[in-house]
Amino acid sequence: RMRRVILDTDIGSDVDDALALALILKSDELKLEAVTVVHGDLDVRARIAMKMLSLAGAGDIPVAKGIEKPLLMDRPVFWTGHEGEGILTPEDRDLKPASTHAIDLIVSKIMEAKGEITIIAIGPLTNIAAAIIREPRITEYVRDIFIMGGVTRLFNGMNLPYREHNIRCDPEAAKIVFNSGMPITMVPLDVTMKTSINRDDLKVISSMKTPFTDAIVSMVERYLEFRGRDYTWLHDPLAVAVSIDETLVRIVDMKVLVETRGEVADGQTIALPASVREEANARVCIDVDSSRFKRFFMERILRS
Ligand code: BDR
Ligand code: CA
Repeated sequence: RMRRVILDTDIGSDVDDALALALILKSDELKLEAVTVVHGDLDVRARIAMKMLSLAGAGDIPVAKGIEKPLLMDRPVFWTGHEGEGILTPEDRDLKPASTHAIDLIVSKIMEAKGEITIIAIGPLTNIAAAIIREPRITEYVRDIFIMGGVTRLFNGMNLPYREHNIRCDPEAAKIVFNSGMPITMVPLDVTMKTSINRDDLKVISSMKTPFTDAIVSMVERYLEFRGRDYTWLHDPLAVAVSIDETLVRIVDMKVLVETRGEVADGQTIALPASVREEANARVCIDVDSSRFKRFFMERILRS
């Protein structure tokens, strides 16, 4: 059954949000109904999303601005300064987002299409938490939510940060979402860091020579320069892929807790095996078939 999707994103800082949006637009299984932006300068983030949609011939999909600061307004907002490079030009100043606030759009879409809407959340969870506060019934009426966020397998031999960006930026919002009862599939950092795209992949994409793929290549190139690396991770695209084909990953039911009052570990996610005492609140991805996912991603991005 086709998924009707709202993408909630901090597009522009890490380039993987743009790649996730591209993957959605190239996937027939997903019908993108709205993009909502979160965290930081939302005019810039909204313009990036609108420009990508218009280059893909999907300029009629609404892009709505949500909430700029974390819920409690006492945590720093992450902003790199390179947001928009590689895609926005001075003329794009005229791109206008939807007049509806992202929270109203999320709530109305879910309430109007009961059981139909899937949220793919690939930024800090501020907008989603605020939508739950505004209309708690969305937790029953949403079809499900796929979250790129958290880290649950710290000791799997990789050099992992113990906190993941999307949860760390707004731990209180994350806690609201994980405690909400929404059907959650969590795609954490320890799994997404097994997926990446490199300069050779970019060469292949650049051979397409469409305005859309040219924009993707130019954004990724800028990002690789910014990071000083020849590869970058496909965190957010993996969350999109799992919403289409969950055989790409291994999933287990777990109880996910979010640390909000730690001295050093605010924003850490702790995932306990589900048991009689620990009722599961999320389906957690614990592994990925990296090479199959990479083929899945590239084959779709190369679709005309
Ligand atoms: C997450 O944080 C952002 O930098 C990425 O876009 C992704 O959503 C990875 O930790
Ligand atoms: Ca992101």
